[in-house]
Amino acid sequence: MTGASPGFARGRRLRSTPALRRLTAQTRLSPADLVLPVFVKEGIDAPQPISSMPGVVQHTQESLRKAAHEAAEAGISGLILFGIPADKDPVGSQADAADGVVNVALQQLLADLGDELVLMADLCLCEYTDHGHCGVVTPAGLVDNDPTLDRYASVALAQAQAGAHVIAPSGMMDGQVAAIRRALDGNGYPELPVLAYAAKYASCFYGPFREAAEGAPQFGDRSTYQMDPPNADEALREVRQDLAEGADAVMVKPALAYLDIIARVADEVRVPVSAYQVSGEYAMVEAAAANGWVDRERAILETLTAIRRAGAGSVLTYWAVEAARLLRR
Ligand code: PBG
Repeated sequence: MTGASPGFARGRRLRSTPALRRLTAQTRLSPADLVLPVFVKEGIDAPQPISSMPGVVQHTQESLRKAAHEAAEAGISGLILFGIPADKDPVGSQADAADGVVNVALQQLLADLGDELVLMADLCLCEYTDHGHCGVVTPAGLVDNDPTLDRYASVALAQAQAGAHVIAPSGMMDGQVAAIRRALDGNGYPELPVLAYAAKYASCFYGPFREAAEGAPQFGDRSTYQMDPPNADEALREVRQDLAEGADAVMVKPALAYLDIIARVADEVRVPVSAYQVSGEYAMVEAAAANGWVDRERAILETLTAIRRAGAGSVLTYWAVEAARLLRR
């Protein structure tokens, strides 16, 4: 047998050198695609490590400012802020206090960086409530949807006043985008965008985050408000509903176990789609890498590329700064 055979295609032709592979790569990942989630805690004088997320810390206001400068330097597009207040109560009062931990952080970062980074405010109550649920609860212990919307509207306004560039509601209450949009429009912030955590699943992969944000529910779980993992069509309903309520962009969360959802959402809508590579996804790779079971840097870039390939335009990831540096190397 000699010469080319018309009997089969030679896919290897385009794989033979790094330059050819680079030229023909269908998906590209760049620092601009990445957003870094950060935690800022009140009442500590040094950054606190998070045992289930090696390399991630709860920041002080000062260490957060430094991390934000490094993030800008690395060329990523934004930060999303989570706060851990010194005092928690049933309604999460510190979430909309003008001197609440995230609202202070937003003001400082805005003063430091202007609009060099997109400052996103995660909008939820679970880090601020003493019971750890994402909304207010009835005496019977049920998360009460409509009174929670009033709280979210007030938190959105506080975050807007503190200087957030994007409001990102993650509580999965029905009607939350409409309530927030109404509050923003009615109080002088018609231009402030809302990135809706539209399809957010009740996932085991948030485990390490609950240590990081100190927001584990004290009773029950989140399965009456976050989505059930078997459901896919429901994600599209949630996305359509959030867009109808005025969302400017939508998010799917978690990412790696939900690539099919990212792909379906990206197929369906013509607004920016983000995906959140959550704490448990981070912890799995870090743990396997620490044992020498996977190559850490390759796992970081391969998972992020997969999330982009599925259709996400941007990715929230705890590796954002490191990945940006790897990509520039
Ligand atoms: C708050 C919120 C959670 C995460 C982001 N926002 C936790 C939860 O819903 O329990 C998880 C992020 C992560 O795991 O990295 N509602």
